[in-house]
Amino acid sequence: MLKELISSRKIKNRVAELGREISTAYAGKEIVMVVLLRGSFVFAADLIRVLEPETVVDFMVVSSYQGENTSGEVRILKDLADNIHGRHILIVEDIVDTGLTLNKILTLLQSRSPQSIAICSMLNKPSRRIQPVDLQYVGFEVEDQFVVGYGLDMDQKYRQLPYIGELV
Ligand code: IMP
Repeated sequence: MLKELISSRKIKNRVAELGREISTAYAGKEIVMVVLLRGSFVFAADLIRVLEPETVVDFMVVSSYQGENTSGEVRILKDLADNIHGRHILIVEDIVDTGLTLNKILTLLQSRSPQSIAICSMLNKPSRRIQPVDLQYVGFEVEDQFVVGYGLDMDQKYRQLPYIGELV
């Protein structure tokens, strides 16, 4: 059964708040939004529409999960198309769980000498962290529970839900 945890209205309001915060922080700068697919595409699509600074978008396809269990292995299936040297990178993630994915991505992107890197994650699950990650922008914190919807999947399903729910 699916239990609603965060309604689409709450998500919309929080995305608008994040948009204001990020727009202020990046005023006068160009943002390169790095969207980690697949899970972040819904959040990124909403977030980019509430950002005021000029924002370009690029995508990485990262795979680290099989069903409900982490494989512990992070694979980059598709790298960025653009050169990020000297640019302001905003990584957009759906959820930070163990932190393994973002640590790998951060190391890779930092090696390309951007001017700055920040992370904006819709959800944060701090109780599951294995490697620490500095998150500049977070939508909501969740407990140690498996959540779906608003882009997040379980075996590729439930991404289309307009709210975030828990499978119970
Ligand atoms: P991490 O490397 O453990 O931080 O995992 C990050 C990735 O795992 C996210 O981008 C999601 O794709 C996936 N993930 C972690 N927790 C959940 C969850 O509760 N629901 C759906 N996907 C999750």
